[in-house]
Amino acid sequence: MTPSLRLERRIIIIAIAFVLVLFGLAALAINMFHVGLPTCLTDIKPFQKGELITHSPDHYEVHYVARMWEFDPEEVVVPAGSTVDVYLSTTDVTHGVILLGTNLNLMAVPGVVNYARVKFDRPRDYQLLCHEYCGTGHERMAAKLRVVDPATFKPNEPKAPVQQPTDPGYRLLEAKDCLTCHSIDGSESIGPTLKGIYGRKTKLANGATIVADDVYLRESIANPSAKVVNGFDDVMPKPELTEQEINALVEYLENLK
Ligand code: CUA
Repeated sequence: MTPSLRLERRIIIIAIAFVLVLFGLAALAINMFHVGLPTCLTDIKPFQKGELITHSPDHYEVHYVARMWEFDPEEVVVPAGSTVDVYLSTTDVTHGVILLGTNLNLMAVPGVVNYARVKFDRPRDYQLLCHEYCGTGHERMAAKLRVVDPATFKPNEPKAPVQQPTDPGYRLLEAKDCLTCHSIDGSESIGPTLKGIYGRKTKLANGATIVADDVYLRESIANPSAKVVNGFDDVMPKPELTEQEINALVEYLENLK
């Protein structure tokens, strides 16, 4: 064997050894830090709502939704010893997510879902932060992940549904995008909540106070600018609804206690 061949063989062996060491280090990192490799999933539809799903007492799945400038859910609690599958999506621009104190580091990219698995051994509070500049509220964008003692952990009770999704009135609210600006569970939004709207004493932008009755509801659906509720902007577009649809909506609202 000539000296140049011998040298070539040595270089190839060193290169292969180097690659093997790299793979070994990656495997070691996954084992030591309990963090799976981030994966970009293009076959899952990005989520619109954050969620914590319980697979078993020590296996959870979190759907994080990043949007300007918050994470949904804002707080997640799991017991120590849990494996958590983190799925991340965004409803607007690109955000980044880092879970301080762990190796979890993902990008929230429009159109796709990013995934990584984390295992938590000990109780501890973790901070979830956005690490990709996403506008003026970027540095406020944070959430909490709490790992608690399994003895004190209370499983999340599944929330009772507040509406019957089969109700024609509810289906209209969904179809006409009303729920983008009006909540039905009392939470704040761009428009007044629809929960308990019927019979509610309501102060208007012009200073008058009215009681939200059948006539008011019909007028406000057909012509939103007619009576604007105090504290809200006159931004609701006139919806295209048939007489029948308005009847169904009003009936649904009157029963939305
Ligand atoms: Cu989101 Cu920075």
